[in-house]
Amino acid sequence: MERQSLSQIEIARHLQKLKDTFNYSHRDLELKGFGSPASITNALKLLKLPVKIQDHIHEGKLTPAHCLPLLKLDEEEVQEAMAKRFIDHDLSASKAKGRVSNYLKKGETKQSKEGVEIPAAETPNVYFKDARDMSELPDESIHLVLTSPPYGIGMEYEKELTLKDIVTANCSVLEESCRVLVPGGVMAINVADLNNHKNEKGIREYILVGSGYQQVLRQHGVYLSDIIIWHKQKAWSKRNQLYNENTKHTSYRTMDNFEPVYVFRKEGDRQEPEADIAERSYLTKDQWKECVDGVWRINALNKQDGHPNQWPEELPTRLIQMFSFVGETVLDPFLGSGTTLKVAKDLNRNAVGYEIAEKYKQVIMKKLGIEDVPPAENEASEEGLAACAEEAPKAEVFSNDPALIKEFFEQQVPRKSTEASASEA
Ligand SMILES: C[S@@+](CC[C@H](N)C(=O)[O-])C[C@H]1O[C@@H](n2cnc3c(N)ncnc32)[C@H](O)[C@@H]1O
Repeated sequence: MERQSLSQIEIARHLQKLKDTFNYSHRDLELKGFGSPASITNALKLLKLPVKIQDHIHEGKLTPAHCLPLLKLDEEEVQEAMAKRFIDHDLSASKAKGRVSNYLKKGETKQSKEGVEIPAAETPNVYFKDARDMSELPDESIHLVLTSPPYGIGMEYEKELTLKDIVTANCSVLEESCRVLVPGGVMAINVADLNNHKNEKGIREYILVGSGYQQVLRQHGVYLSDIIIWHKQKAWSKRNQLYNENTKHTSYRTMDNFEPVYVFRKEGDRQEPEADIAERSYLTKDQWKECVDGVWRINALNKQDGHPNQWPEELPTRLIQMFSFVGETVLDPFLGSGTTLKVAKDLNRNAVGYEIAEKYKQVIMKKLGIEDVPPAENEASEEGLAACAEEAPKAEVFSNDPALIKEFFEQQVPRKSTEASASEA
């Protein structure tokens, strides 16, 4: 075999074989031209690395000099995450070595922090109650709030409520979420703007719902820092009735085949996790590139069994990976079918959810794989689900009482400034 053309890993495996078969010492191998005993020791050490890292060396992505320092780390998962980081950032061997020693130093100085205790609920981690009161959760105990409140578009869980009722209740839940969020924590809210609203002049006018929540949250030191556009695709097939031979030129409307995800951050410094946790939560360069794109192309679900408004798992997956670390706690105060909890669990995060409608218990339990709950009278009604599968009756909700939403948001905007000017006066 031509030694020159072998990878370092192949040479190491060959050396190991010679030792095992002929009981050669390092000195014997040296005499056979395999280099100094020290270099033979180092070559053999490479075989103690996880196979994935050995593959990186074999493929020429990393050198033995990059990888030998990784042997100082105890856990394979951390070794592998750090190797990925070396590749993604094209680190030199000396920088890679420095990274490992920094990691070890951090580990020595950092005290282990206690995780958040989530009080027991009858259904693990799920409270079937109104999330305006989340007194089970201590202040600043949640690292990421990830949620989608009712939009006010006539869904089965919005029936018999006015838009003002819905938005006001949503605001109270979000305010309570501000209390439990850690300083520097993210609150990611997916809510569609309302494109079928008619204003007092009877003119269709877009309502930027996120802007209303922004007014409310900033009063709690939680500020809008990013907007992600979730592009749901498949709009044309549903809405082609908007176009026919009588469609007037210039009357075209854009499709609402997208929804924003508003990313708010609470003021204060986000506490750094332990070094090994940071490594385990590491996003590769490819994942990072996908996440920082402002437009996320993720198909909405075609079929929604048991709840009319379920997220595709990819959406919460990206948000949880971006804005939380392994072992931290994620809250969804408008849990719906339980998607956030399911994904958080898959990503080794703790999670807690609140859902006001007990009829979604079955779908939540099923999604979490907790237990097979038999269908109960609580189950989401077939009638309601069928109604929601149709086009949501947006126009009806807003044209009935167009002043409500305006009044609501007007109330929110001056609330603080009025108080401020009163106290200044
Ligand atoms: C848009 S859905 C959430 C869907 C969820 N993202 C999913 O993937 O299944 C909103 C949910 O919030 C619930 N809800 C509404 N008001 C609530 C409140 N005050 N407290 C707790 N849950 C509430 C509704 O019953 C509904 O299931």
